[in-house]
Amino acid sequence: METTETLVRLKTEAPARIAAAASTEELDELESEIVGRSSPIAAGRRSLGQVPPEQRRDLGRAINDVAKELEALIAARRAVLASAEADAALADDAVDITLPSRIPSRGTTHLVQQVMDEVVDIFVAMGYTVATGPEAETEFYNFTALNFPPAHPTRLESDTLYLEYGDDPEGVLLRTHTSPMQARYMEQHDPPVYLVVPGRVFRRDQVDSTHSPVFHQLEGLAVDTDVTFGDLKGALDHFAREFLGTEIETKFIPHHFPFTEPSAEMHVYANGRWMELLGCGMVNPAVFEAVGYDPDVVTGFAFGIGADRLAMVRHGITDLRHLFDPDQRILEQYR
Ligand code: DAH
Repeated sequence: METTETLVRLKTEAPARIAAAASTEELDELESEIVGRSSPIAAGRRSLGQVPPEQRRDLGRAINDVAKELEALIAARRAVLASAEADAALADDAVDITLPSRIPSRGTTHLVQQVMDEVVDIFVAMGYTVATGPEAETEFYNFTALNFPPAHPTRLESDTLYLEYGDDPEGVLLRTHTSPMQARYMEQHDPPVYLVVPGRVFRRDQVDSTHSPVFHQLEGLAVDTDVTFGDLKGALDHFAREFLGTEIETKFIPHHFPFTEPSAEMHVYANGRWMELLGCGMVNPAVFEAVGYDPDVVTGFAFGIGADRLAMVRHGITDLRHLFDPDQRILEQYR
């Protein structure tokens, strides 16, 4: 009889196929083939109605026995496969705690900023106050209040970058130095003044090893009664020794600035040569008058330090362009 033969074949062949199923997916397919709705088992059950009544019971039981036996085998195999698959998924997912972690790259204060911070600290320790001013400045504060005559050559567009901005009668420019803060500060504060102003300044210069259209200065201003050129030299010598070491040699060379009289440049001997580090001088009485101070009562000195220069002297850098190079290999050396 056909159903019986099929059952026997199923009973002998199916266990090996179940045991060989390599994944739960393969086993699912096998299950529907062996015991599912279109399986020989289901077909056998459906055909029971046509079986003579005296055979029906035995055949029915035989079908159920085979079905139960195979279902048990399938369930056992599924348990084995499912646990193996769970293990594999876990192993796949595992975090390797022995891997070194990714260390985020650490930012650092730029060398020029480090230098400015340090110079500010030196003057703050001497009792100076810190202030900053606008980078877009009026021609009045940048030049006129500082006693630059109307026809002074640095006012020309060949030297100074002018802005088309606002309606200031004298025009607006990118400040060419931090000195305008001398006038701004004195207008707002009564003497005595001990002030240091770090900042970025701009000039119409071609880039080369010693020039850049953007660079940095620290302005200084000391106004009090009886301030002398000796006080100026003392303060700046102290600064040079604090910043560059007690061995550093300095010299003052006469110079001219419209806003100081007399004026000088301070040079330091570093990296085998004399190098200009700053301009300085005694505040010109004309500047005191422009800001409403009485030049018969107060005297003072002022100075402007080139911060980029200072960084070069300190670190033996011979090309200014390195300071403005975004190359991390350069920047990382100055953490
Ligand atoms: N402002 C000058 C410059 O940019 C530097 C300077 C010289 C500033 C003498 C001063 C000073 O305060 O007294 O070249």
